[in-house]
Amino acid sequence: MTQIIDGKELAKNIKLQLKIEVENLRKNGIIPKLAVIMIGDDPASKVYVKNKSRACQKVGIEFEEYLFDANIEEKELFSIIEKLNKDKSVTGILLQAPIPKHLNINKAIELISPSKDVDGFNPVNIGKLTIGEDTFISCTPYGIMKMFEEYKIQTEGKHVVILGRSNIVGKPLIQCMLNLNSTVTVCHSRTNNIEEITRTADILISAIGKPKFVKENMIKDGAVIIDVGINRVNNGSIVGDTDYENIYKKASYITPVPGGVGPMTIAMLLTNVVKAAKLNNCEK
Ligand code: GUN
Repeated sequence: MTQIIDGKELAKNIKLQLKIEVENLRKNGIIPKLAVIMIGDDPASKVYVKNKSRACQKVGIEFEEYLFDANIEEKELFSIIEKLNKDKSVTGILLQAPIPKHLNINKAIELISPSKDVDGFNPVNIGKLTIGEDTFISCTPYGIMKMFEEYKIQTEGKHVVILGRSNIVGKPLIQCMLNLNSTVTVCHSRTNNIEEITRTADILISAIGKPKFVKENMIKDGAVIIDVGINRVNNGSIVGDTDYENIYKKASYITPVPGGVGPMTIAMLLTNVVKAAKLNNCEK
């Protein structure tokens, strides 16, 4: 029988635990605070940032938004990041992507102090993840790992096929899955014969942003299906990267969209903010 991985419920439990942890930290004078920098008015980013703000509020994390016009100069952005790095009341910093093309996002991310990099995007943290050291793990891959842990899904020795090679999801996922002793294959827009590869996956993780791309004939019986896609289609509804209705029965475990990976991404961001608050206060 197929088991649905209930990301919404899992995220709710994580947030309840975090709320207690934040209350205890506050009693000890440690107040977690997330600073979010958003540039321009990308509608999807606005929704994501609003959801992050609400989630922070619910668990008692302070939230500060730094909103800038799309034509902000690079040096101004860099000086804001440096100011936030120095600000002892700010425990976590997040630069919402995408940002306008005239700004060098890699340089901006490199400037964020690794100890406040709650997205886990700074090269120092990516390097630590690569060599298996404790670090901030990018929130979506981290949420997926948490799902495997909570649902006791075997990863060791399994063939994991990742669709997508983004810096935010696909690439950090490679390291996460290697750390869990999986055998990893990554497919992307230039991969030949994708279907042949996906059919060999024990675990298929799709993060390509193409509505219903993964069809029933692309997966094997009993595969674990993790769908990272959040795609708005013409009728206004949200669908994942997988053809959920038609592959559901063939999978052993599957994540729904919405209510799967999405809520876990936010829960893991909050987890990272609390971790950063502890880290930054220890260092004082
Ligand atoms: N844009 C889309 N997803 C993310 C994310 O996880 N973090 C940041 N900073 N920007 C994003």
